[in-house]
Amino acid sequence: MAEIRVLGIETSCDETAAAVVADGRRMLSNVVASQVELHARYGGVFPELASRAHIEAIVPVIQQAMQEAHVGWGDLDAVAVTYGPGLVGSLLVGVNVAKGLALGRGLPLLPVNHLEAHIYAHWLEVRAEGAAPAGLSFPLVALIVSGGHSELLLMRDHGDYVYLGGTLDDAAGEAFDKVGRLLELPYPGGPSIERAAAGGDPESIHLPRAWLEESYDFSFSGLKTAVARLVEQRGGPPRGKALADMAAAFQEAVVDVLASKAAAAAREHTAAALLLCGGVSANRRLRELVRRRADCPVYYPPPVLCTDNAAMTAACGHFRLLAGARAGWDLDVEPGLRLA
Ligand code: KG4
Ligand code: ZN
Repeated sequence: MAEIRVLGIETSCDETAAAVVADGRRMLSNVVASQVELHARYGGVFPELASRAHIEAIVPVIQQAMQEAHVGWGDLDAVAVTYGPGLVGSLLVGVNVAKGLALGRGLPLLPVNHLEAHIYAHWLEVRAEGAAPAGLSFPLVALIVSGGHSELLLMRDHGDYVYLGGTLDDAAGEAFDKVGRLLELPYPGGPSIERAAAGGDPESIHLPRAWLEESYDFSFSGLKTAVARLVEQRGGPPRGKALADMAAAFQEAVVDVLASKAAAAAREHTAAALLLCGGVSANRRLRELVRRRADCPVYYPPPVLCTDNAAMTAACGHFRLLAGARAGWDLDVEPGLRLA
């Protein structure tokens, strides 16, 4: 049987991305144009600049993804695009380009939820430590932790999700980014804090953890406020060993709660595996703690597939195609789209 090739397009936040994936698993290409440098001076994503940068990058990025995959337009079976959640102006760029391509080539248009796409990063074939094997069985528990989201979900089958819990305030990645700013570390805060924490003693400073007992919900704003207070008391951000200690203590406070709740959810639902998804799942300390605490196998994609990319969008689109999902030509973006 001929393989099914899906072009994925992702512009929900600050990465312009396109990829071609065969059979929902084999990455023929995966191109990401990052806007990190553009937003770095603001310490966060500046929405209007993001949409404009997408407008400039989207066509060259798609052309590059097609070239690197060695496919022509006639070799594609569908176009999958992220239509939410995300920034409205950013999402509009990807959705409009995808519509134009699908209409022009007579291809099915597949609507993809960005959160679901982060989960499908685990279906992509990669040879890396921690990568999921082919043919994952259900039920699965997914921890999605990114700049905009922190959610625990039970995945009973393809397209069948139950919401277990999520953040009541800041997303985990958002907390990393805000604390990164307080510590005057380069944007994005997550990788900067992980680097700064190397050699630091997480026990040297006590930071609060919001356990929110009896629930799978999270809260990180109190933790951020506690770091802000410490920085203020010191009269500015710490340097040297004191910086390493503070970064390590903060990182530990975030991943301690995430790891405990994810492991407990997997246990309660007798999950076949626990999937770490989204940008924050690139964090090595999080991976280590979850592995230590979970009773089931724990999988995490390589860092490039943890952060935003379109290979995961195409993989998710493949399973939406098999399920018969099709978007109409009136597909609109849904900035607040949920998964369950
Ligand atoms: O999934 P993603 O690329 O975009 C969203 O959908 O939000 O996630 C980006 C987030 C940022 O907040 C970034 O600081 C965080 O992921 N991040 C990390 C690490 N790498 C990226 N957080 C902690 N440790 C990391 N190594
Ligand atoms: Zn994301």
